[in-house]
Amino acid sequence: MSYASHLQCRECRHEYELKPIAACEECWAPLEVIYDYGRLWSDLRRQEIATRPPNMWRYRELLPVIEEPSVGHQTGFTPLFPAPRLARALGAKEVYVKNDAVNHPTLSFKDRVVAVALSKAREFGFNTVACSSTGNLANAVAAQAAAGGFSAFIFIPADIEREKIIATEVFGAKLVRIDGNYDQVNRLCSEIAMKYPWGIVNVNLRSYYSEGSKTVGYEVAEQLGWRLPQNIVIPMAGGSLITKVHKAFEDLKKLGWVEPVSTRFFGAQATGCSPITTAAKKGDPEIIPQKPNTICRSLAIGNPADGPFAVKTILESGGAGEDASDDEILEGIRLLAETEGVFTETAGGVTVAVTRKLIRQGLLNPEESLVLVITGNGLKTLSAMTEPVQETTVIRPKVADFEEHYLAETAAPV
Ligand SMILES: Cc1ncc(COP(=O)(O)O)c(C=O)c1O
Ligand SMILES: [Zn+2]
Repeated sequence: MSYASHLQCRECRHEYELKPIAACEECWAPLEVIYDYGRLWSDLRRQEIATRPPNMWRYRELLPVIEEPSVGHQTGFTPLFPAPRLARALGAKEVYVKNDAVNHPTLSFKDRVVAVALSKAREFGFNTVACSSTGNLANAVAAQAAAGGFSAFIFIPADIEREKIIATEVFGAKLVRIDGNYDQVNRLCSEIAMKYPWGIVNVNLRSYYSEGSKTVGYEVAEQLGWRLPQNIVIPMAGGSLITKVHKAFEDLKKLGWVEPVSTRFFGAQATGCSPITTAAKKGDPEIIPQKPNTICRSLAIGNPADGPFAVKTILESGGAGEDASDDEILEGIRLLAETEGVFTETAGGVTVAVTRKLIRQGLLNPEESLVLVITGNGLKTLSAMTEPVQETTVIRPKVADFEEHYLAETAAPV
């Protein structure tokens, strides 16, 4: 059962009942789900959470789904593990990886937001769902629409990674490829939302959908033994995830489930699409839209809806924003793979590369605890890896060939 009570405008504070609505009707600002923390505080103990199944619905009182969730029963509670070899490479002391590259069912953190959005779509009586996406959301909506028995229309820029196109189409969703960038696709989706009675995940279901991202924050705290990290690095596209992890940490402090540590939030983007980190570096929440040009397609949103809120989250926490070039992103992917055995997509490469830069610049204290949020799987962006994958030698099935090619320069086996 949920303790969500109403929606509230983030700017003018106007209140709305819990209904499918895209933005504040007074000032067009985004809406936030508000909970009854007083009642939650007296009704729920963190010890009870620990007894529940390992998926994101263990925090269901803190999510806006009122009825039994209809999809995503296995989503969330992904591993959080200490990463000592990555820590050594970064020159840091206490590093953890939160690995949403293995989220269920489509290997990115977007499975969480879609589990909430489609459960809400069912509650509101929508039979058709839709989204605009840079790729991962497309995969997640298509998969969970199939599992939940919804029709789905998925709008994407035509030229995103082939892997993400195939991993959307396979679920039987109607894939609409648009000759344009994400911001143009998103605008089209907003126009369609006004015309058709559909549940559009990132338009009229947006305030609910984005709440799913809070579960990353709840899990990080619970998996650290109900402790907040001193620092966290999060990749940003629309800028929602970083603000929702912040909201999650604040929720846990309000409930008295964690010590009131102030976590510094660090936002990561690709240099070829860095409207939020550029604003953070200037110390000004105003976002100047950009035309994306980066291999990191999942983060390629030039005019991010939650950009100003993401900048405020970063600056008010005492963190910083930084971006990584395409070469640095590929190095970041390899560094995580070679040190911790985790193959992340380009967005994870951004997170690792930006962490390294922030430590080198002295903006992130390597003596303090640090969580890297890895949000997607490397098998979904193989096409971005073409350059650094060397042509490897092929040998005949002979021991002599093996020894000649692989052991000639090393000591002979004992
Ligand atoms: C893999 C991955 N990481 C991070 C993000 C950023 O999330 P947000 O748009 O909430 O900032 C996205 C968004 O598409 C994504 O696909
Ligand atoms: Zn308003």
